[in-house]
Amino acid sequence: MADYDVKDMGLAKKGMNRIEWAAMDMPVLESIKKRFKKEKPLKGITVGACLHVTTETANLMETLRLGGADVRLCASNPLSTQDDVASACVKYFKVPTFAIKGEDNKTYYKHINQAIGSGPQVTMDDGADMVSLLHTKKKNLMPKVIGGTEETTTGVIRLKAMAADGVLGYPIVAVNDAMTKHFFDNRYGTGQSTIDGILRATNRLIAGSVFVVCGYGWCGKGLAKNAAGIGAKVIVTEVDPLKALEAVMDGYDVMPIREAAAIGDIFVTVTGDINVIHKSCFSRMKDGAIIANSGHFNSEIDIPALEKMAKKKREVRDYVMEYTLSASRRVYLLGEGRLINLASAEGHPSQVMDMSFANQALCAEYMVKNAKKLEKTVYGVPEKIDRKIAELKLRAMGTTIDKLTAEQKKYLESWEMGT
Ligand SMILES: NC(=O)c1ccc[n+]([C@@H]2O[C@H](COP(=O)([O-])OP(=O)(O)OC[C@H]3O[C@@H](n4cnc5c(N)ncnc54)[C@H](O)[C@@H]3O)[C@@H](O)[C@H]2O)c1
Repeated sequence: MADYDVKDMGLAKKGMNRIEWAAMDMPVLESIKKRFKKEKPLKGITVGACLHVTTETANLMETLRLGGADVRLCASNPLSTQDDVASACVKYFKVPTFAIKGEDNKTYYKHINQAIGSGPQVTMDDGADMVSLLHTKKKNLMPKVIGGTEETTTGVIRLKAMAADGVLGYPIVAVNDAMTKHFFDNRYGTGQSTIDGILRATNRLIAGSVFVVCGYGWCGKGLAKNAAGIGAKVIVTEVDPLKALEAVMDGYDVMPIREAAAIGDIFVTVTGDINVIHKSCFSRMKDGAIIANSGHFNSEIDIPALEKMAKKKREVRDYVMEYTLSASRRVYLLGEGRLINLASAEGHPSQVMDMSFANQALCAEYMVKNAKKLEKTVYGVPEKIDRKIAELKLRAMGTTIDKLTAEQKKYLESWEMGT
């Protein structure tokens, strides 16, 4: 049995059943898994994976393992682990796994340390906490690392800041930046699963409510569309005039958060920024307002300020904390302000994670083949990989498209022909 720290090994069978259920909707990753099993492109490579421990992640771990890698896994958020999946990874895939849903910060970092073990050659991160630990407290292991991959927007921002400061110690591929990742995972995945998280936590009717989306990036667009689709009146807050203009043209009300604070029923941050919902917002909110975050870190909401302002605090349902601000006003924070789609629901549907994790597997293979040629900076996903994944996904969905004729190809490459 692998080295591990999970909640309960008795949950492994349930976890395995759910992992198999997810695999049915991950045909692209399945095809890579089959090839990896035959070709072993990651033979003997140690991988340190710091990802949300979900059914889809388990399928990715199995793909890497069948490809010959020696994988260790920990969570990329203290509240996103699915405990049954963590134990299944240990029991059925023999992947050393260190993750327990609801772990405190100290345990969270202890687990990242355990997943780092005696040093990975490839890091596979979601939010860059593992990379950051390697560059600070585990510097001695840095010479072993040849390269890495990064899953999310916030992680890519942190890594680009490290590269700009000249401190990034090895090349990393920004999986998030693939079209087949953020276009689908961030937009359709976060869009749907954030609503799922809010519904599971609160069982509230969204129709007719005023739903405030903070941030109109890839995640925000998907969230606004899903909320509007089930009858919410959507307000968008932004700091970027282009994104704000896009939200206006898409039909939403756009205003500053201070104004939205007074009229919203449900607030969700998806910005990757800090203190987007702050002290003066809480004091303007209506009695019963619900606040959640689906961005990577819980710092999008100024929770310390809310804690200070509250006269009383109690948990009224799983993942719902009531803060009494005055005799007539209570606000409700969901899932400790951590990504609500993973805290109270199951994260993105497998169909989108199929593409995100196909990118992860192919980029790990790319890194192993090319690391020596790469600089210590952040790279985009090679276009060839992105297009291949789109092709495979379309094929799996039974959708065929047209091909350019020779005449069209020539026309599109030339400039001579006009009106
Ligand atoms: N919950 C999940 O499963 C999940 C999935 C993917 C990404 N994420 C995370 O969600 C966050 C957003 O990702 P994205 O891909 O949409 O990023 P993005 O860069 O496309 O969009 C972020 C938007 O927020 C806006 N913004 C920044 N500060 C703001 C502020 N103070 N008020 C209002 N708007 C502000 C920016 O202008 C930008 O338009 C990141 O932290 C990312 O890591 C979470």
